[in-house]
Amino acid sequence: MNAPRPVILAAAVVLLTAGGAVAEAPSFAPLPEPPKVDEAKARIGNMLFFDTRLSGDTASSCASCHSPEAGWGDGQALSDGYTGTAYFRNAPSLFNVAHRKYLMWDGRLDGSDLGTVVRDMLTEAHTMNMDSRLAQERLKQVPEYAEAFKAAYGGDPYGGQIYGAIGEYLKTIRTTNAPFDRYLRGEDAALTAEQATGMELFQGKANCIACHSGPTLSDGGLHALGVPENAENATDAERQITMLRHFATMGTPNYMNLREDVGNYVVSKDRVDIGKFVTPSLWDVGQTAPYMHSGTVATLADVVDFYDAGGGEAANKSPLIQPLNLSAEEKSALVAFLESLTGDAPDTTVPELPEYAPRELGKN
Ligand code: HEC
Ligand code: HEC
Repeated sequence: MNAPRPVILAAAVVLLTAGGAVAEAPSFAPLPEPPKVDEAKARIGNMLFFDTRLSGDTASSCASCHSPEAGWGDGQALSDGYTGTAYFRNAPSLFNVAHRKYLMWDGRLDGSDLGTVVRDMLTEAHTMNMDSRLAQERLKQVPEYAEAFKAAYGGDPYGGQIYGAIGEYLKTIRTTNAPFDRYLRGEDAALTAEQATGMELFQGKANCIACHSGPTLSDGGLHALGVPENAENATDAERQITMLRHFATMGTPNYMNLREDVGNYVVSKDRVDIGKFVTPSLWDVGQTAPYMHSGTVATLADVVDFYDAGGGEAANKSPLIQPLNLSAEEKSALVAFLESLTGDAPDTTVPELPEYAPRELGKN
């Protein structure tokens, strides 16, 4: 075992702000420690994650939009949505999802609330459109599920436990073996010379670390960068319907006059938050293209070009987004560094799913 790197792992540099208060300069940190996982519940959750019987029309599972083969996303700019609908945002990757400050691109859910995000994904009309009582009845008619729930929870499958079991499985979805994590844990040779140059740029000239720092490589903040909207939200009626329905559900003022994704504004209702989105984690970015809430940035080289140009147009654009004047070599080094945040591809084995077997009379 290598010794931890003392310089990088030491407490963050302390800065004195104008008011004399002490603030910490953002710094790097290795991946967070794995959360505690209940193995029996996570095993049920693993099956349910891949089981299409949890969608209303049995056509899709969580894995349809969060597939291990596509870095736990779907590899598309915008998510398809439930049969007969289309979604207006990119399906996010689920790597290290147990460690988010907020969930959802607009930050509408608290990061610690995996049970709620699972419930929403299952029951919302635009993702799996599942009635929770129907889910219970379906799972009760699968003897293996009934037995597994009995062993793990002491009773029949039930709404909150179904969400909880999938939430338990989500905790197991983690970055493994990323060169930059190994480097931070003391393995100097884990980064190439070009990646090490990219790391310096990330902390220095390019100032990415202002927002992408700490164990999740995210400040857990909300920022407007001016990422281009996806034109389909204006031209595709199915996408626009889902977007306006989302604005309506959130009680967004005067939403009928909105035709673009306004981000966190629907949560705060404060115009300064128009166009602000959650800072995503950057672990495993090499597996999660295309990028951004709108999926409009195709490759990591395009991401770097976007930042180099000082981002896009936005009324509330963060002052931290400025033109960077990077040379071609510097851009390549930054891309190489982003690739070092990427670990092994996930195991793509789909668990064997147990079959229905109608219950005997009197045993329901
Ligand atoms: C039809 C596609 C689709 C299906 C099916 C689906 N999701 Fe999602 N998921 C999305 C999209 C799109 C978002 C982002 C929504 C937003 O930000 O408005 C999302 C967001 C999430 C998030 C938040 C991640 C983050 O970093 O903010 C989690 C967790 C999640 N889904 C888990 C699940 C689970 C578990 C299931 C199955 C019960 C599931 N999803 C089914 C498309 C889907
Ligand atoms: C002002 C804060 C801020 C700074 C500085 C910043 N980012 Fe970001 N980053 C964000 C936010 C917010 C998003 C999501 C924006 C959106 O979807 O509209 C993002 C998205 C990304 C993504 C896409 C991740 C995904 O899963 O889609 C990558 C890659 C990225 N940033 C890399 C960088 C690099 C490289 C730099 C430095 C050149 C940088 N960022 C500087 C806040 C920031």
